[in-house]
Amino acid sequence: MKLIVSNHKMNLTKDEILSYIKEISEIKSSNKLIFCPSYPYLSFFDGKNYFVGSQNVSDQKMGAYTGEVSASQLRSLGIQYAIIGHSERRNILNESFELIHKKVKICLENNIIPILCIGEKKEEINQKEEILTAELKSAFDDIGDDRKNIVIAYEPIWSIGTGLVPTKEEIEETLSWIKKYIKDNYQVDCKTLYGGSVNEENISNLKEIQSIDGYLIGGASLKLNKLKQMIDILEV
Ligand code: 13P
Repeated sequence: MKLIVSNHKMNLTKDEILSYIKEISEIKSSNKLIFCPSYPYLSFFDGKNYFVGSQNVSDQKMGAYTGEVSASQLRSLGIQYAIIGHSERRNILNESFELIHKKVKICLENNIIPILCIGEKKEEINQKEEILTAELKSAFDDIGDDRKNIVIAYEPIWSIGTGLVPTKEEIEETLSWIKKYIKDNYQVDCKTLYGGSVNEENISNLKEIQSIDGYLIGGASLKLNKLKQMIDILEV
């Protein structure tokens, strides 16, 4: 079973999200669908035939943190997943390795599965392993047995929203390298997703990648016709 994770980012109005929800409630899939809308819409999603995730979480437990949402609040809404360390948050909002580590930890403490995003910038392609190692190490170090639940999403930053996708062979090499790194250093088998310009045209090609456990999809998952096509392609 593959994970199909839809990251809405900061898109869709209330009316748009309500009609989106109506349509997804009819979707049947043998794969695991996970929708990550903006915070205000989370409780609109009933999660009957899919799972619900947040796009972020506070690193703090509770209290005077205006504008933040805690892992326990998310859990109390039935949220099961959270995207952590997305490159947009690392780069635009300057989230540090330390902050991301704390967010991974607090998710696990609250039974929320962190979808940890890692990936290199275009100019870092030649140092990809160093970049990914630093991102993985800072997130995984000092996490207890629960580390087996962390899902890793490899999203090359140069691929996000650009239509540029690494070759199948490159993605296979990177995902299997990530799995091996985690197995060798933390003795667990982790799930690895690919994200970055996944759409209805390239998903049949991406489907052939052996180490792929799922997809983290932005833009193409906002359009229901595209999302449904992708779900259908992954079904067969
Ligand atoms: P796109 O699918 O729009 O390239 O976005 C990928 C992404 O950042 C998902 O988290």
